[in-house]
Amino acid sequence: MKSNLIRPDEMTAKTIIVPVFEDLKELSEVKNILDEKFSGLIENNIFKNFEGKLNETLTYQQASGEIILALGLGKYDELTLDKYRCAISKAFLAAEKFVKEGSLALELISHKEIAKNCLAASAALISAVCNYKFDKYLKEKGNKVQNFEVLTYDVDNSIKESLKIADIMGEATNFTRGLVFESAEVMTPTYVCEIAKKLADEKGLEISIFNKDELKKMGFNAFLAVGQGSAKEPKFFHLVYKGKNPKKKIALIGKGITFDSGGLDIKPASSMLTMKTDMTGCATVLGVMKAIAEIKPDIELHCMSALCENMPSGSSYKVGDVLTSKSGKTIEVDNTDAEGRLTLADVLTYSDDINADEVIDIATLTGAVIVALGDNITGIMGNNQEQIDKFKEVASKTGERVWQLPIYDDMMEGLKSNIADMKNTGPRFAGSSVAGRFLQNFTKSEKWLHIDIAGTAYTDKVHGEIPKGATGAMVKTLIQYILR
Ligand code: BES
Ligand code: MN
Ligand code: ZN
Repeated sequence: MKSNLIRPDEMTAKTIIVPVFEDLKELSEVKNILDEKFSGLIENNIFKNFEGKLNETLTYQQASGEIILALGLGKYDELTLDKYRCAISKAFLAAEKFVKEGSLALELISHKEIAKNCLAASAALISAVCNYKFDKYLKEKGNKVQNFEVLTYDVDNSIKESLKIADIMGEATNFTRGLVFESAEVMTPTYVCEIAKKLADEKGLEISIFNKDELKKMGFNAFLAVGQGSAKEPKFFHLVYKGKNPKKKIALIGKGITFDSGGLDIKPASSMLTMKTDMTGCATVLGVMKAIAEIKPDIELHCMSALCENMPSGSSYKVGDVLTSKSGKTIEVDNTDAEGRLTLADVLTYSDDINADEVIDIATLTGAVIVALGDNITGIMGNNQEQIDKFKEVASKTGERVWQLPIYDDMMEGLKSNIADMKNTGPRFAGSSVAGRFLQNFTKSEKWLHIDIAGTAYTDKVHGEIPKGATGAMVKTLIQYILR
């Protein structure tokens, strides 16, 4: 889907979303033109019969074939960007089925509290996300919008630029979602690396891909232990984007378990159902990389992921095994289902050599984060409060909910082992923080942020503008964080 900022007289769409405030029924410049075109429909009909309550929609079919979809935005003074995003998603989903020839238009409103480019970009991004459906395996494909027309008389370059970035961010989010929706039998470690390679070739990025033998030589023993029960070969990729005059260097690490059965500590059937999504961290860093390579900021970005399956078999790693991680620190396996932190440990150590200004890992790491925060709030933690605060600030603007969980040094006590430097799991409580504390042992970075998306990566219900299924959580926030 491409968004275009145009004047209403240039509109080609036959389906038009017209936002209406409950308490401010006045013809804007754009409405005025539309009203002329549709012989007084807005003034004489919509303003009189449509209340305009927040998220309310009503369609008006014209004899000429055009469809006007009135969208309620509630009271003018009470509108926030969050409410606007949600309302746009409702309107898009209601209008979608009427879309003709792939075009949909939306009147860009003005609001005293929210900048126009913010409103335009949010609408474009949300619409792109609403427009996406994983329909590869469906006989009936949905009605897709190709051309999203944002109607305004303010056709200015800064709004155009915001729309361009919004399109890139929307596409990146959908790219990530597509990888997550795909079956684990397709989305194998080798296949994910092929996707990373294709991205590198298309965008002119450097890429290194390592196979099992190479990883053995590199000392990725904790990671390789997790993958050793699977018939699929483990792989590791490291993708690099280098801007013209890089002002900062960021390392971004995604958890890449292409299927998490739990291993010998096998999961119950109901918990295993969504475990093809355990590579969402990896899919997220790929989506972010795609966007960054298109936006081309002056930074250096390193994205990496260690990919494998966690499976039970005669060759699986076992509880009681002692693994010598890449860092040299030894880990006693206490639970084979706490595999993500083992794979991330080696990648964090690998990333030390990059000497990045900051390191961020993103992972569907713990069920505990779902208990703590539910499926619409992402848990974040780390070793640098300034970095955490900055990330929170960016997330508050992109509208993604994040909440900081604590990490205390003495949480290592719960991870004590009699025969190794630590165990991979500890006491039952505060599981997300303990997992974060575990990871902290493997990075030398003093600016390390850990993002736990176990709850938010994949959901079974819609939250505001966030779709169900693979959500693409944190893709837009990470992009904005990196761009800031
Ligand atoms: N991949 C899971 C975490 C997860 C759970 C992601 C639910 C998405 C939805 C992770 O590998 C895991 O199994 N964690 C265990 C850790 C435990 C054994 C300490 C968990 O949270 O139960
Ligand atoms: Mn697990
Ligand atoms: Zn897992």
